Parts: sequence; C-alpha cells; structure tokens
Amino acid sequence: MKFGVFLPNGSNGYVLTEALKPYVPSYEHQKAIALEAEKQGLSFALPMIKFKGFGGATGYWDHCLEPFTLIGALSAVTQTLQFIPTVALLALHPAYTARMIATLSNISNGRIGLNVVTGWNSAEYSQMGLWPGKGFYDARYDYAAEYMAVLKDLWRTGRCNRKSKYWDLDDCHCLPQPEHPIPIVSAGQSPAGIEFCNEYADQRFVFGHPDVLDELEQQRGTSAQINYGTYVLMHLIVEETDKKAKRIGDEIIKKADTAAISNMMSSAQLDTNRGGTSEKTVLSLGKSLEEGNSAFNIIPVAHGSAKTVAMKLDEIAERTGVDGFMFSWNDFESGIRTFGQEVLPRMSCS
Ligand SMILES: Cc1cc2nc3c(=O)[nH]c(=O)nc-3n(C[C@H](O)[C@H](O)[C@H](O)COP(=O)(O)O)c2cc1C
Repeated sequence: MKFGVFLPNGSNGYVLTEALKPYVPSYEHQKAIALEAEKQGLSFALPMIKFKGFGGATGYWDHCLEPFTLIGALSAVTQTLQFIPTVALLALHPAYTARMIATLSNISNGRIGLNVVTGWNSAEYSQMGLWPGKGFYDARYDYAAEYMAVLKDLWRTGRCNRKSKYWDLDDCHCLPQPEHPIPIVSAGQSPAGIEFCNEYADQRFVFGHPDVLDELEQQRGTSAQINYGTYVLMHLIVEETDKKAKRIGDEIIKKADTAAISNMMSSAQLDTNRGGTSEKTVLSLGKSLEEGNSAFNIIPVAHGSAKTVAMKLDEIAERTGVDGFMFSWNDFESGIRTFGQEVLPRMSCS
C-alpha cells in the first residue's frame, strides 16, 4: 500500500474556507512538506497546476507554483520520495514535456511520474488564447490520447514524425530519453476519462466518495479488465477525539468561501463532458464531509481520532483492494507528522 501527499502548491491547498488562515504557496513550505513526507515514510508527492484561481475572500488558488520547476528543486533535496508533476496538455508542447520529464528523471534518479491533465476549465486557457473552443470539453481525452502517442514515441525512440488531427511533427528530436520508466498518472473520472486511464495510465486517482468506493468494491468481483493501479484521494482531519475532528470539519463548511465556490461552480457548469468531476462539483453544496463538500474541493474527508481514521482507511483498503491513498490536510506539515506517527502504526493495510 502506497501513501502520498497532494502538494498544496496553489494558495490555501484544498480547502475553500474562511475558517483557516489563507496562505500563498512558497518553496520553503513545499520543501518542509516533502521532507516531512519522506521522514514519515510516504511514497509520493503530486503538485497540481492552476493558471487562474477562483478568488473569493481567500483568493483561492490565485497563486500557483509551477510544478516542473518546483519538482526540479524538491527532487534535488530529497532521497526517496517519488514526484508526479502535473502537465496541462494545452499549455505545453509534448516535445517540451518529454524533455522536462527526462531532465527531472535524471535529476531525481528515476523518482518521476507524470500527471496528465486535459483541462476542464476554459477560463484558465482562454486567457492565454489556448482554449480550442467549446468542442474541446468533449474532445479532451481524444487530444490526450494523441498527446500520449507523441510522448511515448519521443521517450521510446528519441524521435517522432506523427501527423494527425492535432500534430504535424517533422523528424522531431528529443534527447535524452529518460533512463527510467515514467509512470503515467491520470485522474479521469468521466467515462471518457476512465477509458483514457485504461489505455494509457499506470495509476488512476479517484475521489473516495461513498458511491465511488461502492463501485470499486463491485468492480473487484467482476472480470472487468483494469490496466491501472487505483489510488484514493481523501482529506484527513485527525484530532485527539472524534468529536473535535468533526467539529473542525463542520466549521470549515460553515465558514466556506462562498464566492470562490461560486466561481468554481460557474466554470464547472460550462463543462459538457458528462459523468465526471465537473458534474459532482456543481452538486457539492450541502454535501456531508464524507460525500465531498465544495468547501473541501469535493475531496471526501476522513475525520476522527487516529484510531478512528486508521480504521476508516483500513476498511476502504480492505473492501476495495486499492493500491494506495493520496491525502490533503488542513495543515500539511503537522498533518503528515500525525499520520506517520499516530495513524500509520494503527493501520493493518499499510
Ligand atoms: C489528484 C488529482 C489531481 C488533479 N490535478 C489537476 C490539475 O493540476 N489541474 C487541473 O486542471 N485538473 C486537475 N485535476 C482534474 C482532473 O485532471 C480531471 O479533469 C478531473 O478529475 C475530472 O475528470 P474528467 O475530466 O474525467 O471529468 C486533478 C484531479 C485529481 C483527482
């Protein structure tokens, strides 16, 4: 079982609330988190990319440290942690991505994967003149498949001549090739996203909502061919008592940054790709902590004492058979420490 951290390289991490002190991301903070994660035996860290935040009273995600440069620095000061920087496909040519990943793989001695993000929020890209138009919502995983074909050619052979709907490459060179395998990661949730994962991803991230966990459990009993490892995304609130942890979670929802949430929902509403995260985002107001409330960016919360949280995570691992978890916290450094020192030793699936 592998455990990882969803790095808070965008302002305020993964909570949209006035109940916590807002912060802008800094390298020193990310470094402290990465070092603590390594110390507590976590396996991987994934930074996201957001080109335009959602504002509101807390300036949610208005600042975002760029993941490739961030990981360049973090991989140089760590020894064991694997890093999974996120590429926004519309913003980077695949030959550039291939070269940066080969460089990071070299710097880190093979501790690099790639999180592939198609883009679901047109405002981030249209501000740069990069949004292809309305049709891209539905075509995004088709584009992602083409992008992967170029990346794989470049990594395998150092060259690509692909001519397709999206690319016209003419003896495109990209050396060095990575000396280590590059695990591909995706968080596709819609039917098109899941199909993409099955074809191209080594790891898929899912939100640990009750309905998703039920689906994973059911799928386990079928002969459906799944070609990727499954990792569950959850937010942890671990306190001395169950009551205190729940109270903190409830307070975050009560003091939600409603303006930032409303901006996020307006963007999600435009997404025509059905059955994915955008649809869940639109319906996330009023959801419980477990179901993925908008104040937690729809990430479900496992809350309670260390014993309770260990039990909850064990129960999920046992019934779904997933390969690992990735977590966010209110305070990452102390959250990771508590997870490593108090939750992990109580877990039987670890
Ligand atoms: C762990 C995780 C990391 C993600 N990172 C990003 C990101 O950095 N940038 C982004 O625009 N979307 C990000 N997403 C959104 C996904 O790439 C994906 O678009 C979303 O889960 C919706 O799935 P769908 O496209 O199948 O609807 C992330 C989602 C998850 C669960």
